[in-house]
Amino acid sequence: MAKKSVGPVRREFTPWENPDHPPFIEFRNVSKKFGDFTAVRNLSLKIYEREFFALLGGSGCGKTTLMRMLAGFETPTSGQIFLDGQDLAGIPPYRRPSNMMFQSYALFPHMSVEKNIAFGLKQDKLPQAEIDDRVAEMLRLTKLEQFAKRKPHQLSGGQRQRVALARSLAKRPKVLLLDEPLGALDRKLREETQFELMNLQEELKMTFLIVTHDQEEAMTVADRIAVMDKGELIQVATPSEIYEAPNSIYVADFIGDVNLIEATVSEVSEDGTKLHSTGEGFLIESSQTTEAAPGDKVWYAIRPEKVRIAKGQGDAGAFNQVTGIVWDIGYLGDVSIIHAKVGADNRDILRATFANVSRMVEDPITWDEDVVLSFDRDAGVILTR
Ligand SMILES: Nc1ncnc2c1ncn2[C@@H]1O[C@H](COP(=O)(O)OP(=O)(O)O)[C@@H](O)[C@H]1O
Ligand SMILES: [Mg+2]
Repeated sequence: MAKKSVGPVRREFTPWENPDHPPFIEFRNVSKKFGDFTAVRNLSLKIYEREFFALLGGSGCGKTTLMRMLAGFETPTSGQIFLDGQDLAGIPPYRRPSNMMFQSYALFPHMSVEKNIAFGLKQDKLPQAEIDDRVAEMLRLTKLEQFAKRKPHQLSGGQRQRVALARSLAKRPKVLLLDEPLGALDRKLREETQFELMNLQEELKMTFLIVTHDQEEAMTVADRIAVMDKGELIQVATPSEIYEAPNSIYVADFIGDVNLIEATVSEVSEDGTKLHSTGEGFLIESSQTTEAAPGDKVWYAIRPEKVRIAKGQGDAGAFNQVTGIVWDIGYLGDVSIIHAKVGADNRDILRATFANVSRMVEDPITWDEDVVLSFDRDAGVILTR
């Protein structure tokens, strides 16, 4: 039988699955307080060498604070941070083997692109020939050769972003820290730059840590994502695990679109769980086993693209299907999303999306139509928190 995995696999790189693999960066029970306010709460996290790791969470959840502690711009209130086996306590930022690229880029306006890139190397008093070599390499890697003599104000936003990146990389840090690096770019350019960052990270064989509040960005670039909320980690996993196997309502709802169905457990066995949805009154059979017991209230989370929709009526009493009426149709070009009213008195909404693979559609589903929504045993996840 072919190997099954949770979602697609981007690359064969999974050091976190090996408990003996030493972490490259480790936060051990780290807390950070500003006065009475706890920005980071007793947080432990391991990041591996050559990993592209993303810290994802809403504004104010402590992402930048966590990164600044690693870079040495903030001191933990308690706990320890290790890099390559070394406890970083007391080591000033400029002596740490990390480099942080700031959200604002912080370029020197009066210096040319090449002088901006060379700045840190000059400060470190590297020989001129070495500086010239590294600047040339960075200009090539970030495709800035033709702009070497320009000043920052003569560049576009995307080019300025690349200069900041080149300057951060020129010192060959062991870890590059990127705080919302693409926030100032428009959508198209952001997507392009995400792929450039991934290529750069693979080519330089470096460890990248990126902070973002943009879930698509984290999903695109990262080997693993840590979802943060209020100074704590909620889930640390690969993008596909985060999407297909969220560990909580918070994560399921934060990443992508999801139907959250309130349900009561009716039967638990070795090959799955049976649920009865509270509002819609339909029966769910899941291949997932759960710690919940019969009678417990849980949530069944199912992504709209995993709900099938067809014209007609369902079989009363069948598992994993429910009859509804089309309430709303959203046409997004590549996909369409249908909101169907389901359950007793049609009070509840279930969303189904499908890809518009054909240009011409015969007999399309339309408003107020009777439809049957159905899904597979392994299409959704049972959540207990
Ligand atoms: N120097 C500081 N003094 C007081 N509060 C701070 C300071 N830095 C950050 N905070 C607070 O800590 C919380 C987390 O901030 P931050 O790490 O910047 O969040 P994020 O990067 O996730 O948006 C916020 O509530 C912020 O107001
Ligand atoms: Mg921030």
